[in-house]
Amino acid sequence: MYEGLLSILRDRDTGTAEFRRASDGLAGLLCADALAGLRETGAGGLMLVPVLRAGLALLPSFVGALPDAPVAFVGVARDERTARPDLYYTRFPAVMPSRALIIDPMLATAGTACLVAELLMREGYSADAIHFAGVLAAREGLDRLARVIPRDNITLAAVDPSLDARKFIVPGIGDYGDRYFGT
Ligand code: PRP
Repeated sequence: MYEGLLSILRDRDTGTAEFRRASDGLAGLLCADALAGLRETGAGGLMLVPVLRAGLALLPSFVGALPDAPVAFVGVARDERTARPDLYYTRFPAVMPSRALIIDPMLATAGTACLVAELLMREGYSADAIHFAGVLAAREGLDRLARVIPRDNITLAAVDPSLDARKFIVPGIGDYGDRYFGT
């Protein structure tokens, strides 16, 4: 279901406008998929947690499907040399619903997603109440995140086999945030 849009995103020759169109289409599918899984768990309220910046690319689809859902913002940037996540911004709503959905297109080492999951746990969420929706993971990142939150809570369009020396997903999509925002 995701393949046609993913191949547009993977293509190095895809420009900003086409990348955005494909990403927006894929976000709609991913949102439907993630929310179907959540409904199976009998979810109450849901807080959306886009990870800045790239998570913002997926946010409009989720806000469209859940017009009442509060949104928490978490800013994390990977250090380009060490690939370690650096937390630079958090903003949580005053009232937080029973479940949280982390939104970030890329799961590479999963350092970022695990850091955000730990932040949510400090805010009182159990691992079972934390979900993740993303476009592409590396196998080792998915395995790492699945040791922190249940595998059934993780929705992805695709899983690639490996990471390169710079901890980029291979074959991957490149830097999703840079490509979506035309950086
Ligand atoms: C990218 C991506 C994830 C993270 C994934 O963000 O959007 O947040 O890296 O890598 P990890 O699983 O190894 O932690 P980046 O740090 O490039 O920031 P950006 O969203 O501002 O581009």
